[in-house]
Amino acid sequence: MSMTTARARLPKPRGTLSERVFQAAREPAQEARSTGYLDVEPDSADDAAITLWALYELSYRGFEDVDDAAEWDLDLLRVRRRLEADLEAQLRARWPGVPAYDGDGGAAFEEAFFRWVEEFEGPSLSRFVQRQATTEQVLDLLRLKSVYHLKESDPAAFVVPRLEVEARAGLMELQYDEYGGGRPDRLHAGLFARGMAAVGLRPDEGAYVDEAPTLVLEQNNAMSLFGLHRRLRGAAMGHLAAFEATSSLPCRRMAQGMERLGMAAEMIDYYTEHVEADAVHEQLAVRNICAPMIAVDPAVEADIWFGAFTCLDQEARLAGQLLEQWEAA
Ligand SMILES: [Fe+2]
Ligand SMILES: [Fe+2]
Repeated sequence: MSMTTARARLPKPRGTLSERVFQAAREPAQEARSTGYLDVEPDSADDAAITLWALYELSYRGFEDVDDAAEWDLDLLRVRRRLEADLEAQLRARWPGVPAYDGDGGAAFEEAFFRWVEEFEGPSLSRFVQRQATTEQVLDLLRLKSVYHLKESDPAAFVVPRLEVEARAGLMELQYDEYGGGRPDRLHAGLFARGMAAVGLRPDEGAYVDEAPTLVLEQNNAMSLFGLHRRLRGAAMGHLAAFEATSSLPCRRMAQGMERLGMAAEMIDYYTEHVEADAVHEQLAVRNICAPMIAVDPAVEADIWFGAFTCLDQEARLAGQLLEQWEAA
């Protein structure tokens, strides 16, 4: 399969704000905008999330039906700023704060981080997939996960030039692997796309955004928020560390579940690849990125924990939602 896929078009609006913003992005009609056309509140969390998701997408691959210049359109940026301030406030309100541990920074931080991840309580989607999910349920999950996996690692890539030498080298080592180590056919997003096609799903970015629940959009928005603001580089790297540190074992379970269901080898390969890769990535993220960041600037530690909490908290909430739906079915 060719790795070049169709460029996405804007998703479906989910309320007044997204309707207006998408219209403005498509046809930059100045007169409509000067009258506060975009200054409406979102109708719902869903309306806010899809609007912000689409505005962020302008900084990745963009949309076929939106001019590339829209990324830096001041009216759209003003909407983005409002929505991301709300999102950040909501995420910070959920965060219980830095966990107490003995010592500060360095090895003490590293051990405390791994312990905290291990002790984090949350329902497990991968265990359900491993033991009892149906093929339909796994395909549902893959559609939701595709919103991120088809742009895997891209949010963290924005952070590279914002780090000091040691952490920058650590992040590049991790990213080099995520992006295939120089081999386009090994790029993780591409492996996932190949898996999608092999299980009969669409491999193009944004293909399933319209069916993504609010929480999936918010997961993606949190990563973009952290990645695009230098101020939030700690949160971005804490999120990355928590993501990698909760990936290896769940990926093994996902692969086992798909094997149990006789699903396509290409998708199983994506997960198998991550069993070993992420066991390395979690070490890099914690010891070679987060710890050196704290050594240079201890003030960044709080946001590292904030980003890490956000990652696990959002995933736990999504898992809870999906498991409830699946068990009810
Ligand atoms: Fe990956
Ligand atoms: Fe990884």
